[in-house]
Amino acid sequence: MRRKVTVVGAGNVGANTAQKIAAKELADVVLVDVVEGVPQGKGLDMLESAPVEGYDVSIIGTNGYAETAGSDIVVITAGFPRKPGMSRDDLLLANYEVVKSATEQAAKHSPDAILVLVTNPLDAMCWTALKVSGFPRERVIGMAGVLDTARFRTFIAQELNVSFENVTAMVLGGHGDTMVPLVRFTNVSGIPLTELTDAATIERMVQRTRDGGAEIVKYLKTGSAYYAPAASTVEMVESILKDKKKVLPCAVRLEGEYGIQGLFVGVPVKLGKQGAEKIYEVKLDAAEQAALKKSAAAVQELVSVLEQKAQ
Ligand code: NAI
Ligand code: 2OP
Repeated sequence: MRRKVTVVGAGNVGANTAQKIAAKELADVVLVDVVEGVPQGKGLDMLESAPVEGYDVSIIGTNGYAETAGSDIVVITAGFPRKPGMSRDDLLLANYEVVKSATEQAAKHSPDAILVLVTNPLDAMCWTALKVSGFPRERVIGMAGVLDTARFRTFIAQELNVSFENVTAMVLGGHGDTMVPLVRFTNVSGIPLTELTDAATIERMVQRTRDGGAEIVKYLKTGSAYYAPAASTVEMVESILKDKKKVLPCAVRLEGEYGIQGLFVGVPVKLGKQGAEKIYEVKLDAAEQAALKKSAAAVQELVSVLEQKAQ
């Protein structure tokens, strides 16, 4: 049977995500946006590249949710991106309303779907989607760790002049300034990063990773990154649809793991057809554990604002 993925938000991240899903023939795609004509136009444009690129999937754009019914996965990218000087957290209240309404509609039409959240502030938007959908935690997953890790891997590969593919890394925590790149779990084909370069160089790459989103915003001026975010989202979608069981850093609701209760925080997760099938609790040293707690506290601050609003 053909699989179906809905992408809510036909902007930069959403459209690129939809296009990559189609190009890989992972599923039929429904693109949803509030702006009249945009999802229809972008969907048709993508479809018209099918004969050239050689993919056989259906791609439709719409302003409603009827066409999304029965989706296997709903990717939510709808919302407002960061502008220069704006933090991810500034987006909180505006994007809360967007994600709330998108989740309500998506869950109504696709009650068995897995939700993959992208909208920022990511961890708080995951909290919103879980609350609004009433889905089990396995089926509400946030994309951020794959992107943050990809950035860290990029900087390491460039610095050491090695293949990007050879670099394995892990960035945990919330998707913000407090994210936790774990140097101890980072290696190049099994060789620990600490044996390949000095501490100052590693610290510079860690900081650049934390600032990775802002670096792109500074260049673009009118929006934020979308090629790497879309690629990262599609890696998660592919692992779920093909039941590949990739272990990827994803935002999931922790229920005691890592000593964190009731918050979405990025941790290593096995992604398969059931969604977040397993959370890996790696042994962290005291400094790593403290950094993760600090990151969770930053997520809690945002969630507290939303909890007050929801009352
Ligand atoms: P964009 O502005 O290009 O696209 C957003 C789209 O959402 C627009 O087309 C807009 O019309 C649409 N939209 C607004 N309200 C809607 C609603 N109620 N229903 C359906 N569509 C609606 O923004 P971009 O660059 O695609 O980013 C989207 C979101 O993803 C932002 O919040 C951004 O911060 C976030 N993001 C998160 C990343 C992560 O690592 N988690 C990475 C990159 C972006
Ligand atoms: C990023 O990290 C905007 O969160 C987005 O690029």
